[in-house]
Amino acid sequence: PDEYAPGQVATKFIAQFGVRLARYEYNGQPQIYALQSVCTHLGCLVKWESARQEFLCPCHAAVFDARGRVVSGPAPAPLPEYKVREISGKVYVGLT
Ligand code: FES
Repeated sequence: PDEYAPGQVATKFIAQFGVRLARYEYNGQPQIYALQSVCTHLGCLVKWESARQEFLCPCHAAVFDARGRVVSGPAPAPLPEYKVREISGKVYVGLT
């Protein structure tokens, strides 16, 4: 978990798994989130814009916040989130 800096989105798993990992504070505790990269509008791949701290979809301009929630645009739902567990210093990401 310490490999993921707070406020940063890790992109090294996108090519193999289509997953972005992000570490943010939630209720005062660091927490890692795993989000799918596929826009919920029509399925384009979103891009992380670190300067804005938002995901942008290049197809029809949907915008998602760092947690994957819809900020604006035509996306009908947040970016799907994978279940994340931290066990013995390792991060596990699963589908359910
Ligand atoms: Fe992302 Fe349309 S596919 S906004």
